[in-house]
Amino acid sequence: MERTVVLVKPDGVQRALIGKIIDRFEKKGLKLIGLKMISLSDAILDEWYSHHKDKSFFPSLKSYMKSFPVVAMLWEGVDSVVTVRKLTGITKAREADPGTIRGDFAMSQQYNLIHASEDSVVAKKEEALVFTEEEIFSWKKTDIGHIYLDEELKS
Ligand code: CMP
Repeated sequence: MERTVVLVKPDGVQRALIGKIIDRFEKKGLKLIGLKMISLSDAILDEWYSHHKDKSFFPSLKSYMKSFPVVAMLWEGVDSVVTVRKLTGITKAREADPGTIRGDFAMSQQYNLIHASEDSVVAKKEEALVFTEEEIFSWKKTDIGHIYLDEELKS
């Protein structure tokens, strides 16, 4: 089953939206297998946003992501990377579709509440950057048969 990383960014923590954000993913049927609050270091952020390091907004992005703790989550589900990105909405939050997390709760291009892994390769890299093996939980979600067909679970 695919895993994907979500961060509730400092603005999401400050705006008391942690619970609402978790609720969206839980209600969708995704399984939470890791959850913690962390302060992001320069080393993690340089690696996390390495593809943005030459962008003009990189220094501001880094100082924002270090300004307050974030809440890191690891979610599991069939095609979870794409699913979580759809629920997240586009970067420029004020133009994000209603019904998405950014579309419903945010206005800014930078303060857009959450991070969601871009693809499954990036998701694995991000998982390793913030979670140790002991912080990832393998547990049986007993309503799984009401969320997926058996065939979908085999794919
Ligand atoms: P995200 O798409 O999750 O990852 C990169 C982040 O950089 C993005 O969210 C925003 O928080 C931030 N970002 C992207 N574009 C800009 C921009 N033009 N100005 C400021 N911040 C940006």
